[in-house]
Amino acid sequence: MELPEFHDSYCRIFATDHVGMMGDAPCVAAFFRQFYKRFTAYPDIAEVFAGTDMEHQADMLKLSLFELTSCAVPGQPSKELTRLAALHHRLGITPKMLDEWVEALLNTVEFFDDHHQPATRQAWLTMMTPGVEYLRNYRDGDTPAPAPQAARRRGNDWLAGMP
Ligand code: HEM
Repeated sequence: MELPEFHDSYCRIFATDHVGMMGDAPCVAAFFRQFYKRFTAYPDIAEVFAGTDMEHQADMLKLSLFELTSCAVPGQPSKELTRLAALHHRLGITPKMLDEWVEALLNTVEFFDDHHQPATRQAWLTMMTPGVEYLRNYRDGDTPAPAPQAARRRGNDWLAGMP
């Protein structure tokens, strides 16, 4: 029920017919700019990202959407999401910051989706929640250590194909 709504919203925003792909470059860049404007409007987030290369952060969000939706569909975290969970655990990212990330994302979706309705917000939330909860509840040693090199290479290959 929610997957088709998520898919349609995703395709409207990124101007693509294929979930898992991001459409034309200008709309991808605009989406990431708006997301970071909202995300870094929270003072605790702005503090964490002070002096960070925002070019790299745009890649981070592309990878995030890919990994979070990948977690919702099979219901299992990928090795890459396990690596990200361990990284954020080490960075000391709090549950409140994760809520702010989700809120910034949902507001950005609403801003760009010209057919947005309450069900759209719910659909995105449903797709993001399993992965976000995995990050929220991650504790060191929860899952077998991932293979960071391979996971990273896979993520980088995927990012290299992005506009
Ligand atoms: C579900 C939510 C989130 C996802 C999926 C996510 C995803 C990512 C990804 C993919 C990276 C790049 C990692 C790499 O290249 O090795 C990253 C890095 C990072 N994330 Fe997140 N993130 C999330 C939430 C947050 C939140 C709430 C914060 C709080 C400020 C945050 C702070 C950071 C920082 C500081 C880095 C390292 C940046 C750098 O120095 O390059 N993330 N995240």
